[in-house]
Amino acid sequence: MGHFMRHTLISSLFFLGVPVVMLTCVGSQSAEAQTAPTEVAALTADPSFTSIHFSGSGNCATCHNGLKDPSGNDVSIEKDWASTMMGNAAKDPFWRAKVASELRRNPGLATVVNDKCTRCHAPMANVAAKHDGAPITVFNGGFLDAQNAYFNHAMDGVSCTLCHQIADNGKLGTLEGFSGKYFIGTYANLVERPIYGQYTNPRVPPMQNQVQYTPKYGAHTASSELCATCHNLKTPFVDAAGNIVSTTPESEFPEQMVYSEWEHSAFAASGPDAQSCAGCHMPEVDGVAISNRPWNLSPRNGFGKHYFVGGNTMMLDLLDTHRAELGVTATGFATTIARTREVLASAASLEVLSASRASGQLTVQLRVNNLSGHKLPTSYPSRRAWLHFVVKDAAGSVVFESGRLNADGSIAGVDADASPALYEPHHELITQADQVQVYESIMGDTDGHLTYTLLRGATYLKDNRLLPRGFDKATAPSDIRVAGSAGADVNFTGGSDTLAYRVPVSASGALTVTAELLYQPIAYGYAQDLFTDAADPEVARFRGYFEQSTLRAEPITSVTTGVP
Ligand code: HEC
Ligand code: HEC
Ligand code: HEC
Ligand code: HEC
Ligand code: HEC
Repeated sequence: MGHFMRHTLISSLFFLGVPVVMLTCVGSQSAEAQTAPTEVAALTADPSFTSIHFSGSGNCATCHNGLKDPSGNDVSIEKDWASTMMGNAAKDPFWRAKVASELRRNPGLATVVNDKCTRCHAPMANVAAKHDGAPITVFNGGFLDAQNAYFNHAMDGVSCTLCHQIADNGKLGTLEGFSGKYFIGTYANLVERPIYGQYTNPRVPPMQNQVQYTPKYGAHTASSELCATCHNLKTPFVDAAGNIVSTTPESEFPEQMVYSEWEHSAFAASGPDAQSCAGCHMPEVDGVAISNRPWNLSPRNGFGKHYFVGGNTMMLDLLDTHRAELGVTATGFATTIARTREVLASAASLEVLSASRASGQLTVQLRVNNLSGHKLPTSYPSRRAWLHFVVKDAAGSVVFESGRLNADGSIAGVDADASPALYEPHHELITQADQVQVYESIMGDTDGHLTYTLLRGATYLKDNRLLPRGFDKATAPSDIRVAGSAGADVNFTGGSDTLAYRVPVSASGALTVTAELLYQPIAYGYAQDLFTDAADPEVARFRGYFEQSTLRAEPITSVTTGVP
């Protein structure tokens, strides 16, 4: 308590020293930060810019950092958000490489690709440029060029004034609101710009005076429909000649359908285990004063920590490692990576249902339970999870192994990692080392061939990603259907997959069986396909980062059992 009072006293004194009305020219971008003219400085954006619609995260940090929960833990909002994937969505070198690759592979569609790819990854730049009627491009003088008028907007990623200005226009949670079709209003009088939050009676003057926004209650703020606007993503697709062949928003390719997966699960708002996206991705804590000023602010309950972690430790690590080159300014990646590992550890459990040995054969029945609120893995189609299954004899020598990870990130025995045209089928029974259970989605093009090109994705050849609890595959809409042989596997069902390993063992003495579920954000085959475009500097740069990285996968959970 003593610490809390000292903290608010200092803040209130600081508040008195702040001019009540900011006299900067709101409506145009503020001057670039005064930094030494080094190569690095050219890439460093100003997080304290202001414009007709937006205000950089640095302006919000003034009051929404330095926050503590009742146990004294730091719950600073900008600090937590800054080292997340959303905070770095436009600095992400994989995103940049993929945009460059899609532009090369679909040269006739540059306008569509530039607009589409910035809508969620550099959303403030996309909205502002559209409003101004300015060109929307990523490279060669585009948003990622420090001279571009929207550079600061772009580099701030999925930022505070983007999420908190998304209005409930009646389309959130519907096809018309998905795929980045969020609505942000334009106001002649800047101070009328709403900042929506979950509280009904916010103290209004401090924000009006300092940042020219009006904090307001918005029932939609805490809803999964807010996240759905970017986390349900359908994309138009082209045929081999490069012509767009999807005709309606309905018929577009369901590239990422996290919200629909969740909606069809026990975690849906009307489901038995109702839990929103924020419920799992923004852990709640009670008793927090949500701004460090004015000094007499009452603590509030239901404070959502801005953690926003999923499974992507690899990219968080690359952003931190190559921070100067990528213009990364946030610290705190180690904390965000640790939080990511905690979330991954809560994502699944493994059970050995039976393990027995008879006439030279070991038979083990395993069940994998998905504990997350959507498919596992979910979202971007380069993600995969797989089972590493090892049998050791009494002396500790390996007598059978399926799913060994190699140092380059490939998985021994997985077809997709050996050949660009192949993929590993879904398995119900594994009898050989070159059969591996890989939970993943594999895209098919308009000719039914495997493709890793986003704009060629027309269907899924395989989607055996683990289903969330309550997900009925028989009634699932086609956008989230199970694809490939998992559809007919009666042991692949809402919440779990059960499979068997039957392998020859000649060793006498007790055996030890270990099964581990691992997660990889960028499947090896997906990366190799991208690297065929390494003539592009963005792709070459990402390839260098990828090949230097030693963080190849994350363990989710494991189980060990002895067999006499
Ligand atoms: C991806 C969207 C998103 C982004 C980006 C985001 N927020 Fe939030 N914010 C939310 C949601 C959702 C809630 C409500 C959480 C709840 O009800 O549990 C929230 C709540 C808040 C609150 C109320 C206190 C609390 O944490 O519950 C404040 C203040 C706030 N955000 C400020 C910020 C600031 C400042 C930034 C930028 C550094 C930011 N937000 C970035 C979605 C976002
Ligand atoms: C509707 C919003 C939206 C649009 C439009 C969009 N993305 Fe994304 N993108 C996302 C989200 C959300 C994720 C994160 C999903 C996850 O973590 O699995 C993501 C992740 C990615 C990733 C993986 C990043 C990483 O670090 O692993 C790449 C690459 C990517 N997008 C490329 C693109 C390209 C190229 C385009 C344009 C063709 C595009 N995106 C358009 C929302 C969008
Ligand atoms: C001068 C300090 C100050 C600055 C700067 C500031 N805020 Fe606030 N903010 C507050 C105060 C005070 C409240 C109300 C707290 C209360 O009533 O408990 C608030 C409330 C909020 C809420 C909750 C609204 C609700 O009804 O639930 C959000 C969201 C928010 N701010 C976001 C932002 C964003 C985004 C920025 C940057 C553009 C920002 N704030 C800048 C002081 C500030
Ligand atoms: C304006 C679009 C937008 C909105 C709205 C949005 N997101 Fe995101 N989100 C993204 C993008 C883009 C990425 C991926 C960035 C990347 O990987 O480069 C992402 C990534 C994520 C990740 C993956 C992080 C990781 O480490 O793998 C999580 C979790 C997430 N968002 C949660 C949420 C939640 C919860 C909400 C709603 C409160 C939300 N998002 C709203 C665009 C958005
Ligand atoms: C019951 C808890 C729970 C709920 C509810 C939930 N998630 Fe998740 N989410 C997780 C876990 C655990 C992971 C890590 C495993 C994974 O990556 O799939 C995760 C991962 C993610 C990722 C990163 C995916 C990746 O691997 O690249 C995104 C994006 C995401 N969630 C978005 C959402 C959105 C949007 C919603 C609401 C529609 C939501 N989540 C609801 C638990 C939950």
